[in-house]
Amino acid sequence: MAEQLRYDGQVVVVTGAGGGLGKAYATFFASRGASVVVNDLGGSFKGEGNDSKAADVVVNEIKAAGGKAVANYNSVEDGDKIIETAIKAFGRIDILINNAGILRDVSFKNMKDVDWDLIMKVHVKGSYKCARAAWPHFRKQKFGRVINTASAAGLFGNFGQANYSAAKLAMVGFTETLAKEGAKYNIISNVIAPIAASRMTETVMPPDVLALMRPEWVVPLVAVLVHKNNTSESGSIFEVGGGHIAKLRWERSSGLLLKCDDTYTPGAILKKWNKVTDFSDPQYPSGPNDFLTLLEESQKLGPNEQGEKIDFTGRVALVT
Ligand code: NAI
Repeated sequence: MAEQLRYDGQVVVVTGAGGGLGKAYATFFASRGASVVVNDLGGSFKGEGNDSKAADVVVNEIKAAGGKAVANYNSVEDGDKIIETAIKAFGRIDILINNAGILRDVSFKNMKDVDWDLIMKVHVKGSYKCARAAWPHFRKQKFGRVINTASAAGLFGNFGQANYSAAKLAMVGFTETLAKEGAKYNIISNVIAPIAASRMTETVMPPDVLALMRPEWVVPLVAVLVHKNNTSESGSIFEVGGGHIAKLRWERSSGLLLKCDDTYTPGAILKKWNKVTDFSDPQYPSGPNDFLTLLEESQKLGPNEQGEKIDFTGRVALVT
């Protein structure tokens, strides 16, 4: 039989573990030897109310099966209290799965501050607060694993989800930076855009499709990414669900380089627009362009095409 990935002696915090994906993570890690903090505020999927039952049910299930788990009912906005629960109950924290989430879907035309703020609080501030509280422990023990949860809506946009997509793409930048800052301390961070049947998706997808998207089928990828043997895959974005796993990356066009002088005009850009959008010879960058080299190269170029005049004095140009 193939060797199992195991997490004995490790402590896993799963936020929003009272149902859906979070519950699947929690029960899995407990079954593989980890001690699990089952965090859930127990509110509605719109972020209203709270109820300790959501976390308790999962903790009881894990315990009844012989696993180790403890409940925490705080909102992820108070992430320090969630990590404190891990330290108090089990003395450490090794793996953080930032999973808790809500929806406040509404067309942008009708979006209110409360819809925007609540989504930012739960997804962005919540993930920050949990990771921030875990960070000193990770650094000290030179081990930490973080999973943040993005969404296809964040990567590609989606009608009615301006708030949610902004928050979910924030998880990508957040993860990329944590990966860079954590590298020296063996802190590995990755971000997933999952797709799974849960109370979030059950109202927008038909039952036969939902049956093919079990939350349990997101777990194995996460298990691989947070395992101690993964020491290199960090700062990465994955789509995962229904048996499919793919890594996404940035792609940069070969790009247009113009001379930076007074021939650098809107018309000069338009003249060569195809170069801006030409992906026939792409780069797959993990960082910004080598800006200093580009500056040097730009200076070596001759004047740009398109004899339009440009000035920044505010004087209204004559129509030519
Ligand atoms: P779910 O609604 O079943 O689970 C989310 C859990 O988070 C709930 O149990 C809820 O009580 C808890 N929660 C909400 N606000 C909280 C707070 N402030 N503090 C603590 N717990 C809180 O939904 P699902 O589908 O399992 O979602 C898990 C994550 O995956 C979310 O971040 C969601 O945005 C993301 N996601 C899910 C997709 C899917 O297809 N199900 C698609 C893309 C992203």
